[in-house]
Amino acid sequence: MCGIVAYLGEKQAYPILINGLRRLEYRGYDSAGVALLEGDALTIYKCQGKVSDLESHINGRSTVGTVGIGHTRWATHGPPNDVNAHPHQGTSGDLALIHNGIIENYAPIKEELVHRGHVFRSDTDTEVLVHLIDDIQRSENVDLAEAVRLALSNVVGAYAIVVIDRKDPEVMVAARKSSPLVIGIGEGEFFCASDATPIVEHTKNVVYLEDGEIAVIDRTKGLKIRNIKNQVKTPFIQELEMQLEALEKGGYDHFMLKEIHEQSRSIRDSMRGRLNLGKGEVVLGGIKDYEQKFVNAKRILILGCGTSWHAGMVGEYLFEEFARIPVEVEYASEFRYRNPIVNEDDIVIAISQSGETADTLAAIELAKGRGAMIIGICNVVGSSIARVTHAGSYTHAGPEIGVASTKAFTAQVTVLTLMALMIGQKRGTLSGGNFYRLLNELDAIPDKVQKVLQKEAQIKYIADIYKDASNALYLGRGYTFPVALEGALKLKEISYIHAEGYPAAEMKHGPIALIDEAMPVFVIATKGASYEKVVSNIQEVKARKGKIIAIVTEGDTMVKDLADHVIEIPETADPLVPLLSVVPLQLISYHIAVMRGCNVDQPRNLAKSVTVE
Ligand code: F6R
Repeated sequence: MCGIVAYLGEKQAYPILINGLRRLEYRGYDSAGVALLEGDALTIYKCQGKVSDLESHINGRSTVGTVGIGHTRWATHGPPNDVNAHPHQGTSGDLALIHNGIIENYAPIKEELVHRGHVFRSDTDTEVLVHLIDDIQRSENVDLAEAVRLALSNVVGAYAIVVIDRKDPEVMVAARKSSPLVIGIGEGEFFCASDATPIVEHTKNVVYLEDGEIAVIDRTKGLKIRNIKNQVKTPFIQELEMQLEALEKGGYDHFMLKEIHEQSRSIRDSMRGRLNLGKGEVVLGGIKDYEQKFVNAKRILILGCGTSWHAGMVGEYLFEEFARIPVEVEYASEFRYRNPIVNEDDIVIAISQSGETADTLAAIELAKGRGAMIIGICNVVGSSIARVTHAGSYTHAGPEIGVASTKAFTAQVTVLTLMALMIGQKRGTLSGGNFYRLLNELDAIPDKVQKVLQKEAQIKYIADIYKDASNALYLGRGYTFPVALEGALKLKEISYIHAEGYPAAEMKHGPIALIDEAMPVFVIATKGASYEKVVSNIQEVKARKGKIIAIVTEGDTMVKDLADHVIEIPETADPLVPLLSVVPLQLISYHIAVMRGCNVDQPRNLAKSVTVE
């Protein structure tokens, strides 16, 4: 989604803004722009395309200014083009504004402003906001901060904004509601950004703006925060733990590949300090105070979107098997618009890598309003979901920059496994022997992931054979059904090949009609409860001349005889197979996408953090 970066300080803003916009590229966007302020000279450059296109567009022109705002836009209202790109200006030309979010009541406001003589240039909802601030500033004769506050009081929707004013170059005003905004505080300089990635190389001291807060950043008076009701708020300064190196590619061609390869470490980090083999226990500090409520839960509701929803499906199998608590997994976007039944003795688990997904946030608010206890599983520390949930466990996977989620999925499944094991043990539904065996198996997973990653050359060879396919089918059963869904999602989102995931047995009820010699069918056929059944499903595909690429357990012979290709993964307990079997599917998708010339880190039309519904 849109990315915001802003600077006010002693240095030249332009290089900081461009570098910051590059850091935000991973969020997904289709146009970019900057506004620079020096004295009363306000310069705006913007264009459709990538940050590099913006740089070429600016090349050779003046970029002077110690105050500046920069933006990457992901189109919602109006197509991606030069005019709709941010920053936007009002009628006076004094203001420049960047915005992430959606102004829902832009139409009546626009009508009123047109009536008052304002002329609009773009199709965006954002332009309405800057005209409104401009109008209020002049009609009420108030400063920028007060005009922003009054304007936002009239606005319905979600926003993170930063505004600068040619008439007051010492001040920058930022505000948020339902869209994230972080303020970095350096030595005599300030930064604003949609997330901490553009800030971390300049300062570790940050303030996460809360909903309804307006920050006034003044070169001499520093940072002051008020809320929309004009009450003064004390900024809570936190120290960032993020390391700059975590935001670099570290020698890999793409962030996605780096993140796939990080999984051995990231799964270990998700378990660190939580899985104690010596004591034979799982400790999840973030939910400790709510453990009893969890143990007594009558039902668990798991909410998420996309890959996080797939992780939630694995969670369903885990909780039902280990803790014998009924589980329902819901798309957050559906849940929020139904009239769902939520009870006070339900536990809601909300899963989100970014912690900013608008639908998941709204679903949490709904469940919270109905009295449920909400536990978050988020990756981004300090994110909105992490803050609105009652308790939670971070996944500690480290920043995920590639738009396609990889290490976030395995980290989410790891945390869900720890939770389910802990609750199962405490409820007495998981026998001591089984609990210890699974703890040991889980502890061995990072090394086994490493072994799977060593198969990359073979996986690349297979990718080359199927790179020109138009369709692909992914089959799994039990714990690997969500993995089949995740494998299909990875392929379609980065290679644009149509792919579908199915429970293996469901194939007979429709998808089998698609199978012919041109159809690659990826099957997770590891040893375990459903092995023989999946082998029968493979036979059904073979009989229709489909091409089988099977993920099997090391040493398997039966599937080897049937399949066109097999990729072996180390043996593990059934409930832990998702953590290993998803890795070859991630690698296949990655290599196919690269071979097809796709932009794997920033697939078309996709955004990393979906902050609009
Ligand atoms: C797929 C992908 C998306 C996200 C989804 C939820 O690779 O990245 O499907 O999983 O947008 O995002 P989070 O987890 O940030 O809530």
